[in-house]
Amino acid sequence: MSEAVRTMMRMDAEAARETAAEADAGFLWDFWYPAVRSAEIRGRKLAKAMLLEVPLVLGRTTEGKAFAMRDACPHRGIPLSYGRLDGNVVECCYHGWRFEACSGQCVEIPSLTSQDKLKVERIFAGHFPCEERDGYVWVYMASGGRKAINASGGREAADNSSGTLLPDTIPAAPALSVFSDKYKMIHLDCELPSHVDQGIIGLMDPAHGPFVHQSWFWRKRASIHEKAKQFEPIPNGFRMSPHQPSSNSAPYRLLAKMTGETVTTTIDFVLPNLRTEIDRSGKLWFSSRATVTPVRRDLCRIDFVAAWNLPVPVAIFRPFAKTFLRQDQLTMIQQAEGLKTNPRLMLIDDADKQAKWYFALKANLLESRRTGAAMVHPMSGPVMLGWRS
Ligand code: FES
Ligand SMILES: [Fe+2]
Repeated sequence: MSEAVRTMMRMDAEAARETAAEADAGFLWDFWYPAVRSAEIRGRKLAKAMLLEVPLVLGRTTEGKAFAMRDACPHRGIPLSYGRLDGNVVECCYHGWRFEACSGQCVEIPSLTSQDKLKVERIFAGHFPCEERDGYVWVYMASGGRKAINASGGREAADNSSGTLLPDTIPAAPALSVFSDKYKMIHLDCELPSHVDQGIIGLMDPAHGPFVHQSWFWRKRASIHEKAKQFEPIPNGFRMSPHQPSSNSAPYRLLAKMTGETVTTTIDFVLPNLRTEIDRSGKLWFSSRATVTPVRRDLCRIDFVAAWNLPVPVAIFRPFAKTFLRQDQLTMIQQAEGLKTNPRLMLIDDADKQAKWYFALKANLLESRRTGAAMVHPMSGPVMLGWRS
């Protein structure tokens, strides 16, 4: 067996091990995820991020187009983020191979002589579709892109004309709903030392409010009372049907007071990780989105963005939102301590029903991708849930 064949076999074995390890990481591929804030990629700066355990290097071309490449040179794997951005090209710091930033295509290998036959244009660095929305750089984590680059050394990528094995069409990146031309906006984020599933079910958990978010501006523990909410299925998710929000939350009472009209709240959860809430009362509105993005299997990040036209300055809203997020973060840090020893857990009806739907949606989506059959929605129609919070 030649050394070259042995090397190939080693690479295949490594790729197989990687694939097996990834299979149980519980990530949902082929979706958009926010990687960094738009403001983090400026000028010739290269920013680093990690999504679904894939290291990324992000930047902006001279035309202002954001790009995301796998942060590993297909030659010897050194992170491309140590290299430099030169117009529309990223140059590796090790041997100076140059890659077109948006397509990942190699455009120059400085060591080649005029006698060399290597087809430079058939070599690709791993890259992913990239779009900017609401002040975030979103990256479409295509499973095909993952396979191409996991084959190590860009070998498979080099055999593929586009280098990414991307599906032909991908959906548009998510955008926050806004309801007037002028509005205020904030962005907050925090990291949670947990698997994305724990982050997500924490986000949609209705029963922790009176305990974790006790504060003068939100609610008191004593204000706990029985609630009944209707939920309905929507594609890839579920909706808390439009309703009058909880009367024990000060912000909603304030909103109703300002307009003299009722407040209507609609809350959606959609795979892989988006929770959106829209509150409207007369001409006033408040719209927010929280995403829980898997960084590694033991780390996820909440990105919270909100926009509103209420007469509430950003400087007033920000500390409240920060406190809220910090309360969730502290709880998740404490929970991670408990989860280290793999205790048995339970989900109860009805307070944990949304968590059950989340797990069922995820499983059914993966099953439909595996079989090619239409996805079965875990809900057959509207459902009333009741809990005390
Ligand atoms: S490792 Fe990047 S050019 Fe050699
Ligand atoms: Fe919370």
